[in-house]
Amino acid sequence: MLTTKPRGTNDIIPGEVEKWQYIEDVIRDVCRIYGYREIRTPVFEHTELFKRGVGETTDIVEKEMYTFKDRGDRSITLRPEGTASVVRAYLENNLHAGPQPVKLYYIGPMFRYDRPQAGRYRQFHQFGVEVLGAHSAGIDAEVMAMAMEVYRRLGLKDLELHINSLGCPECRPKFRSSLQEFFRPRLEEFCPTCQDRFERNPLRILDCKNKKCRQLAAGAPAILDCLCDRCAAFFEEVKRHLEELGIDYIVDKNLVRGLDYYTHTAFEVMAKGIGAQSSVGGGGRYNGLVEACGGKDTPGIGYALGLERILLAMEQQGVEFPPPWRPDVFVVTASPQAEYAAFKLLAELRNLGYRADKDYNGRSLKAQMKYAGKLNARYTVIIGENELENGTAVVKDMITGEQREITREKIPEIIGR
Ligand code: HAM
Repeated sequence: MLTTKPRGTNDIIPGEVEKWQYIEDVIRDVCRIYGYREIRTPVFEHTELFKRGVGETTDIVEKEMYTFKDRGDRSITLRPEGTASVVRAYLENNLHAGPQPVKLYYIGPMFRYDRPQAGRYRQFHQFGVEVLGAHSAGIDAEVMAMAMEVYRRLGLKDLELHINSLGCPECRPKFRSSLQEFFRPRLEEFCPTCQDRFERNPLRILDCKNKKCRQLAAGAPAILDCLCDRCAAFFEEVKRHLEELGIDYIVDKNLVRGLDYYTHTAFEVMAKGIGAQSSVGGGGRYNGLVEACGGKDTPGIGYALGLERILLAMEQQGVEFPPPWRPDVFVVTASPQAEYAAFKLLAELRNLGYRADKDYNGRSLKAQMKYAGKLNARYTVIIGENELENGTAVVKDMITGEQREITREKIPEIIGR
């Protein structure tokens, strides 16, 4: 127990963490270019926020939240996603009072109690963006373009961008009733959850993972065929903007997404060949969410990708990561008397900005050299009795094996910048 992590969580240890840092650097760079600024919200919120925001009839709220009472008897939930929190923060911090739209991004852990498998965890990490206060179709295309740019820069290939429109409060009721009409004759054959959702939110039946329910739902009406004129025109505009950017997309009438807040555009990015959890990101428009959270009628659109899945896809596609950390220089002592001089030299090298290290375990000269080799140090700098007396050091190039004795001030000249 003490040495076992909870199911569905991961340690990200050195060797792995450099890959994460690389992905995060790429993400932050793209956000800078597109004008998105970082927001950091708490990892837990009042449970009500997610119930109201994500939707009472979603799998996330019904089955997957980590909810507990805190010591003050308040119901608290570890965030299962980032959008509701960002909307709350937008309202609470009066970001709606400044120039609109507000373009935000976040990177951080999310929590969902689901059955863990490759690419699905109970604590996972998302990079997400949210744009609040922009209603034109161009921003929908921008969010998708930005997502695709992140994947492109990370070297991912064979991705599919699936898009759909989920309509608006005007076209939803018509769609809702045609769905109910379609499901009604065989309702008893659906799983209990779907039967329960039939009245409360029949759209969710389209998102059921149960095999039988999927079969029964095959051929159900698609919202895309029930869109009102305004929604249909908006969807055309989104597609046109994507085409202008040369971004390929697949119109996927069956795309519903697992969260209730979506209106209009919904999209998902699929990676081929990473197994069952092929969705490497998804998002859409949520024009009613700010209002549902107590604000004024404000349009919103966003997107999130799972960092674990990105990493998995990159590894499976054989994408090369930058080389891992290694010291530029490893300081070696060839006699115990040289210890203080070596310690000081190490500090000086670090002050100059070199990645530098030394042994702290009293290793022999040979063992120190071996250790430096294991760390993949580019150079070693050796100080022994002679060098101590002469104010010099021996610099060894660990690739060529070449070594030279020089005065210590000259070290940067040899090892370069
Ligand atoms: P989502 O589709 O639930 O959307 O999650 C987005 C991405 O997070 C998924 O495509 C997947 O890559 C990753 N993900 C989800 N669950 C897990 C899990 N259990 N383990 C590993 N990765 C996972 C949202 O969360 C929305 N908030 C996205 C959004 C932002 N829509 C508008 N704004």
